[in-house]
Amino acid sequence: MSVTIKSEREIELMREAGKILAKVHEELGKAIKPGMSTLDIDRMGEEMIRSFGCEPSFKNYQGYPASICVSVNEEVVHGIPSKDRIITEGDIVSLDAGVIYKGYHSDAARTHGVGEISEEARLLIERTRQSFFEGMKYAVAGNHLHEISKAIGDYAESFGYGVVRDLCGHGIGSHLHEDPEIPNFKQFRRGIKLRPGMTLAIEPMIDAGTAEVVWMDDDWTVVTEDLSLSAHYENTIVITEGRPEILTLTESEIAEGIWQTGVESN
Ligand code: MF3
Ligand code: CO
Repeated sequence: MSVTIKSEREIELMREAGKILAKVHEELGKAIKPGMSTLDIDRMGEEMIRSFGCEPSFKNYQGYPASICVSVNEEVVHGIPSKDRIITEGDIVSLDAGVIYKGYHSDAARTHGVGEISEEARLLIERTRQSFFEGMKYAVAGNHLHEISKAIGDYAESFGYGVVRDLCGHGIGSHLHEDPEIPNFKQFRRGIKLRPGMTLAIEPMIDAGTAEVVWMDDDWTVVTEDLSLSAHYENTIVITEGRPEILTLTESEIAEGIWQTGVESN
């Protein structure tokens, strides 16, 4: 499959899918409390997704058994919700979710601190999010894909963090995973040229320690090899001639001025 350019109609459906997913993340973020199980979060998320007339895109995707990936502390991504995994004060919890609206996908992830968290954890979450926005400065038509990858990776590595290399972002549209693959670190090739109408899910996964990760025996849960904390931040975006359109932000995230910087084109 090659990288596709979406029509205005397709982008409109993805906008709707994105708005719904942003709302789901906002509500789940408010709901996370010590004492909840990771399965409680999944149930709440699935119910909300369906109440908006969407399907959870992860459910049964390649056999994944839930709607929301819930990854706690040293878990990087793809944690499987369980009634026995109880969230406690001081944890950091990464939630990754996708929805399908009228055949089109959106995909986004957020990492939340539960109650009081360590300064190390707080900075990791904040800088992981910022690494995404560093990438956004280069997400403009005419630039090459790997300028985004480099900007994300260089920013995260400037703090000594490990940038996960075994997992990448991806194109998205009528499928959850489309071409291109989007690494989060410097590449030796420049990658495809970005064009208006490309829809991408960009998702830095950043570790406080080593970049090395291992897969658990459930064949899904990815954890840091040194058990250091890991954070995840993802949005679905559309490339335009100017600043990219980020489809999975809430009104309040936009109003907060999450976007502090312009784009840099060559
Ligand atoms: N955001 C993740 C990704 O893009 C979610 C996939 S999890 C799965 O790969 F359960 F659906 F596999
Ligand atoms: Co994704």
